[in-house]
Amino acid sequence: MFELSKDGLEFVNKEMKRYETKRSAIIPCLFKIQEENGGWVSPESILYLAKIMDVPESWVHEVSSFYTMFNQEPVGRFHVQVCCNISCAMNGGRELADHLVKSLNIGEEGMSPEGRYTVTRVECLGSCGTAPMMQVNDDYHENLTPDKAVKILRELE
Ligand code: FES
Repeated sequence: MFELSKDGLEFVNKEMKRYETKRSAIIPCLFKIQEENGGWVSPESILYLAKIMDVPESWVHEVSSFYTMFNQEPVGRFHVQVCCNISCAMNGGRELADHLVKSLNIGEEGMSPEGRYTVTRVECLGSCGTAPMMQVNDDYHENLTPDKAVKILRELE
């Protein structure tokens, strides 16, 4: 059964006091849930957050399913989000994503067999001037070529 750590609970309580309405605190609290739930927001963790925030489960669910930064499925240790929006697409973003899927042996579920990488294609990450780019966990990598991107990923500890 999913439960937040003591620090996680303190974080949620602090966020609920910080905003005028509880609803406004859902986004930062979901980030904490995702962090403590191994990188994704499971149905169980959404229900848990709704209970401790004392808000309807549907409010938490609608926020978590709207924003792509909340993962609806488990992800690998390194979550590689490749931007395929206009600027990145025009500079090889889609080919970059295809290359990573092939090079990292990403299967049907979007994850490499040993669970090291998940590759997802995403919309604009706000770094259009340095296209093509990818976000790996919390870090941005910009002005990529397919070989440069694979090298970065292989060297991650
Ligand atoms: S189009 Fe890729 S970061 Fe904006």
